[in-house]
Amino acid sequence: MIGRDQPAHTLWITDRETPMKRRFSRALQANLLPALLAAFSLSATASDALKDGSTVYREVCASCHGPGPVEAPKYGDRTAWQPLIAEGQHVITAHGWVGVREMPPRGGDPELELEEFGRAVVHMARAAGADWPDPAAQPALLADIRHEVSARVASLRSKSVEPADRGMTGAAVYKEICSHCHETGVAGAPRRGNADDWKELIAEGQHIVTAHGWVGVRAMPPRGGHAELALEEFARAVAHMANASGASWKDPTGDAMLLGRIRSEEADRRRKLALD
Ligand code: HEC
Ligand code: HEC
Repeated sequence: MIGRDQPAHTLWITDRETPMKRRFSRALQANLLPALLAAFSLSATASDALKDGSTVYREVCASCHGPGPVEAPKYGDRTAWQPLIAEGQHVITAHGWVGVREMPPRGGDPELELEEFGRAVVHMARAAGADWPDPAAQPALLADIRHEVSARVASLRSKSVEPADRGMTGAAVYKEICSHCHETGVAGAPRRGNADDWKELIAEGQHIVTAHGWVGVRAMPPRGGHAELALEEFARAVAHMANASGASWKDPTGDAMLLGRIRSEEADRRRKLALD
């Protein structure tokens, strides 16, 4: 078990198709460009262009905070939310935004504004009895949240360490951690043993896909949300999933060439995301 503030660091990747890009190209196909442009100029000025908390909850958070296999504080579960509510609105909003263990940064949606994310937190906290205000209408509260975000990011950076390989097998890591999402495809996770889900990833190559999962991508939390994992253990779990889905990837332990390629891709990715 890991401590409460051993986290999943910051960011994700946005260069594959995002829901926003999909909405955008669909709208273009429907010749909605003028309406879109109007919507964009509105969103730059009017705060009511922001989504409300129940919409964000439904679209982004419910896949983990609703019924299902992920061990998140569930919607309406007062027992689970009580200690979070006691921590305070600015604290848990900031921590969720940055990401904590299997909670991916921003809930895995890089398009969300802080106000929208904060509203979804309020939506869940109210369902568990809290009386929290809309942060979009509270400049002082928003400033407290941003301050806590910076403090959190700084604290996570200073604690970021890499544990040694304890020799966990890919199957064991999968069963204990990755299966929470990769068994049923929570939030779009590629399912173990599903050749369609893995086809593109397998074509990208073992070192790339391993590095990207390790750094984190959208709703994939960095290191699967478990800071106690070694890169080798994480990589074995990736190979375990890919090999059940048509690949023949190797255990990188002792393969200095493969490990070096994963490390170099990781470094590129982190630079690109300005994580270092
Ligand atoms: C991919 C799964 C997943 C998605 C999607 C997700 N969450 Fe979470 N969330 C979690 C898990 C797991 C935890 C528990 C983390 C822990 O404490 O170990 C959590 C915890 C939280 C917490 C408590 C943070 C703290 O201080 O401990 C907040 C707040 C939160 N989520 C908000 C949201 C919001 C808002 C959304 C949608 C915009 C969202 N989450 C989407 C998995 C998810
Ligand atoms: C809380 C949910 C969750 C957990 C736990 C989780 N994943 Fe994921 N993972 C995802 C989601 C969602 C995606 C799809 C991200 C996307 O492309 O939008 C994903 C994608 C991936 C990818 C593809 C990365 C790429 O290049 O697109 C790899 C590799 C991966 N996960 C490995 C793992 C491993 C190994 C574990 C266990 C140690 C794990 N995941 C645990 C949710 C999870």
